[in-house]
Amino acid sequence: MAELGQSRRTFLGSLIALAAGGWFLGKFLTPRGKRRKTLLTVAKGDLPRDGALVYGEARIALLDRGGRVYALDLVCTHLGCTVNVTPSGLVCPCHGSEFDREGKVLKGPADRALARYEVQLVGENYHVQL
Ligand code: FES
Repeated sequence: MAELGQSRRTFLGSLIALAAGGWFLGKFLTPRGKRRKTLLTVAKGDLPRDGALVYGEARIALLDRGGRVYALDLVCTHLGCTVNVTPSGLVCPCHGSEFDREGKVLKGPADRALARYEVQLVGENYHVQL
């Protein structure tokens, strides 16, 4: 009887270890695209055609260019200041880096483009996702 109890414990222990291993592998091997986090939800009607909406606290700009909608991270790639959105482009107030409306560097000292976020239209809302 003691032998039966021992094998049951061994079996349950193995089952728990197998489940934990499966969870661990699933969590870390799942492609990133399946685990997107929504940072902002914006009503489609709030974004003007060829305009921009700036979310200062989140440091994200949602932009429309000819009906194509995308989101830029407003964290300057030089030293991390918040980039301002102007009618002609994006300007960093700290050291003067300039970016075009696509986030590409026009003038340094920043040497990398602004990061982009994925934007999905779900119903009548844009979801800006990490
Ligand atoms: S932090 Fe933006 S240019 Fe330096």
